[in-house]
Amino acid sequence: TPTEPSELLELAVTLARQAGELARNTRVEAIGRVTTKSTATDVVTAADKAAERLVVEALSAIRPSDTVLGEEGGESPGGSGVRWILDPIDGTVNYLYGLPHYAVSLAVEVDGIVVAGVVHNPVTGEEWTAVRGAGAFRNWEPIRCSQVTDLGQTLIATGFGYAADRRAHQARVLAEVLPRVRDLRRNGAASLDLCWAADGRLDAYYEKGLSLWDHAAGGLICAEAGLVVSGLRGAAPGPEMVLAAPRGVYDALHALLVELDADAGP
Ligand code: IPD
Repeated sequence: TPTEPSELLELAVTLARQAGELARNTRVEAIGRVTTKSTATDVVTAADKAAERLVVEALSAIRPSDTVLGEEGGESPGGSGVRWILDPIDGTVNYLYGLPHYAVSLAVEVDGIVVAGVVHNPVTGEEWTAVRGAGAFRNWEPIRCSQVTDLGQTLIATGFGYAADRRAHQARVLAEVLPRVRDLRRNGAASLDLCWAADGRLDAYYEKGLSLWDHAAGGLICAEAGLVVSGLRGAAPGPEMVLAAPRGVYDALHALLVELDADAGP
């Protein structure tokens, strides 16, 4: 079984497209079968589960010794050093409401380093990809992040968790960020926020409370498109914070988020 990043990406793209097709084609039935996870607002549909099953079953047939970490199914053990990190539907609430902004996010790690990733929006057919060290692409056209240098001129995106206490903290931070930027979008799918920052539809993005499957693929795509991707205070991107900003505004946005203790609290 190959571990060449470009070959891993090729398989990731094939699987993300198949999972996306399944989600798009089964939406009407799937949204009738909704359950909740961490809180009453944290929903999962039958399609999240079916799309994840499709990818997990395909991988266990094609690459049985790889590990798969999926949002809905947890982690299956492997031994090959290759780990697939899957969010079968990122933007489940958009999916539920028929908003055309959700995606399959699939990243591939080799020995703990993300080497390839794809984020596929099955409604628009847009697909962002990256292989470490080889640039970022939207539908196979190279992309670059914005070159903005003034935080006051940035269009930023963020998102909110599902727990009330976390949301209250996020709202307090946002109240201080909003007056200092051009404007804000809350589009509802972290992986797509990252991809939109990568191709300049947004300038920057930050969010506290993400899981690895939300940002593994999008984070690589951002880094390859020229953004700085990190946590706060020297930390790697993780549950406390994922910040992706162009070099020219990174320091200012990072300093603001540190001053606001955006990574603290619930
Ligand atoms: C959510 C979305 C949302 C973000 C949340 C995520 P899900 O993922 O990416 O934009 O704000 O933090 O949990 O639940 O739709 O897979």
